[in-house]
Parts: sequence; structure tokens; C-alpha cells
Amino acid sequence: MKHILITGGAGFIGSNLTEYFLGKDYKVTCLDNFATGHRHNVEPFFTNQNYKLIEGDIRDLETCHKAVKDVDYVLHQAALGSVPRSINDPITSNEVNVSGFLNMLVAARDAGVKRFVYAASSSTYGDSENLPKVEDIIGKPLSPYAITKYVNELYADIFSKTYNLSCIGLRYFNVFGRRQDPNGAYAAVIPLFVKQFMNHESPKINGTGDYSRDFTYIDNVIQMNERAMLTENEEATNTVYNTAVGDRTTLNDLVKYLREYLSEYDADIANVEAIHGPNRIGDIPHSLASIEKAKTLLGYEPTHTIDKGLKEAVKWYWDNLK
Ligand SMILES: NC(=O)c1ccc[n+]([C@@H]2O[C@H](COP(=O)([O-])OP(=O)(O)OC[C@H]3O[C@@H](n4cnc5c(N)ncnc54)[C@H](O)[C@@H]3O)[C@@H](O)[C@H]2O)c1
Repeated sequence: MKHILITGGAGFIGSNLTEYFLGKDYKVTCLDNFATGHRHNVEPFFTNQNYKLIEGDIRDLETCHKAVKDVDYVLHQAALGSVPRSINDPITSNEVNVSGFLNMLVAARDAGVKRFVYAASSSTYGDSENLPKVEDIIGKPLSPYAITKYVNELYADIFSKTYNLSCIGLRYFNVFGRRQDPNGAYAAVIPLFVKQFMNHESPKINGTGDYSRDFTYIDNVIQMNERAMLTENEEATNTVYNTAVGDRTTLNDLVKYLREYLSEYDADIANVEAIHGPNRIGDIPHSLASIEKAKTLLGYEPTHTIDKGLKEAVKWYWDNLK
């Protein structure tokens, strides 16, 4: 039985990866300090004998060493997400996202893991106006968070070249889906808008609403992690991949779709209008990925368009938040 360490396993993406790989008969260890993750995300796994939770912090090297013991693969998701959080507190974002990342690389190297797959970010494209985004053309970072995620890529590259640690970075593009947290000051836009609509409150769009994103459903992200973890194609390793759908949706359209899909559960939501505020510092105007590299080298085929993903996500929130 193969053993995966999922850091950040109590968070949105990490708990979905855990659920998927436990279902495929892997042994899964989760390392999380519950900074932004939740116990309710991991509690359903406690009865599974192949699951182990280590409550600990990636800023502590000893904890990282302990967590990678007897592990075949690492799926490193633990980080402090959110551009505004990193603007408000760049030091903690750097400690977790850079020093914590380096600790995990060192621990994975020392344990001789087969592959280190990590959560990179579309924010690394920074001020590059090139569309669609191709992996080799990036701009200057627009936030402390973007810097941390780019530094991850630089360290992973050096670890693969210097210590022969097989690494793959997945540049996630606005991931959404079941269990993404709708609460807190740094909630992502889709769960936040869903919650607001469900409460008949007006969602607030930053700016005019014509900014666009390549919103990516969680199942596509799970697929990319599995392919990256298992690929035996040498050419496909020690590099980064856009993890997206290759389609973009404006914020105005997103609001329109969410309102439409949620109105099927509660007709009054059809009358809830969005309001607009100022643009947010550090936001990239448009984000659209080329997914050709992932298709060619990893055999990736997204199973969920934004439309299919939004319908599934809306149903999940309706069943679980109401
Ligand atoms: N959700 C997205 O759209 C998106 C986009 C790009 C990149 N990412 C990256 O994907 C990863 C997962 O994001 P998510 O959306 O699931 O966020 P999340 O906040 O739900 O999950 C992150 C998890 O990491 C844990 N964590 C934070 N600091 C830690 C520490 N010091 N030690 C141990 N655990 C710690 C948190 O408690 C949480 O459970 C992150 O690295 C994030 O930067 C996410």
C-alpha cells in the first residue's frame, strides 16, 4: 500500500485530496496546524484505519521530518493563501509559505520520497499581460503571496537539480468546490458569493466586474495531483504546470450563473443584485491558462467545465450550509 503525506490536509484542497486517495486505497497522513483548515474537514476520516492526522506546523523542521517518515509521495498543500492576507501580514505568509516550504523540501529529500508535488499558483504570472498564460512566460509578482509561491518554484527547481528530488509544481488557477470555506475575512470569491446569495445579501464585486478568471473545479485539481504524483515520464517532472480549465469567466458572469443556479433552490435569490466596490490591490485583471503542457506531458483532460463545476458546488453548499 502506497503512503501519501498531504500537508494542509484539513483545508479545502487537502481534504478533497485525502478523501479521493483514501477511496483509492492509499494510506494518507495529513499534517496541518488548523490555521485555516477545519476539524470538520478531517473528522469523517478518523474511522479509516489508513488515515493518520498529525497536528503540527510546517515551520517546525522536526515535525516535517516526523511527517514524511515511510512516505512514498508528498502532496504539499499547506500554506497561507490569499493575496490580501499576505498584504496585511507579509511576515507570517513568508514564514509559512517559504520557510515552511523549504522545511518540507528538506524533510522530503532526507526521507527519499519518490515525488514531491506542491501547490504553486497562477499569481506567479504577476503583471504579465500575456494571454493565455503559458508556463514559461511570467511577469513580476504583484503581492507578497505571489512572491512566496514563485520562491517555491525556485526552491523546487534547485532541489531537483541539486539533490535529485523529483518535484512537480501545480499552478492552481482559482480553485473552487465542495468544502471551500465561505467564512472569514479572506474567503474566496465563489463560496463567499454563494453564502451571500443564500442569505439574500448582495455580493460585492471589486471593480466593474469585467476582470476574468479561469475558475477551476476541485475534481480537475485532484486529477492533476494524481497524474503529477504518478507520472513515470522523466520529461514531465521537475517542472510546473498550469492547473486550470483553459476557459475564463468574468466576475459579472460568475454572479449571473450563481444567481441562476441558486434560484433553483430558492426563487427569491433571483432578485438579489450585486453591488460594486473599488478594485483590490494586487489583483490581476485577467487570468486564463493554456493547459497544453499538462495535456501533452501528463495526459490531463479536465472533466469539469466551470458550468458543470458551479452546479455541483452550488448543490453541495445548498445541502451543507442550509
Ligand atoms: N484555492 C485556490 O484557489 C488556490 C489557488 C492557488 C494556489 N492555492 C494553494 O493551494 C494550497 C491549498 O489551498 P486551499 O485553498 O486548500 O487553502 P486552505 O486554507 O483551505 O488550506 C490550507 C491548509 O494549510 C494549513 N496550514 C496553514 N499553515 C500551516 C502551517 N504552518 N503548518 C501546517 N499547516 C498549515 C491550513 O490549516 C489549511 O488546512 C495552498 O498552498 C494555496 O496557496 C490555492
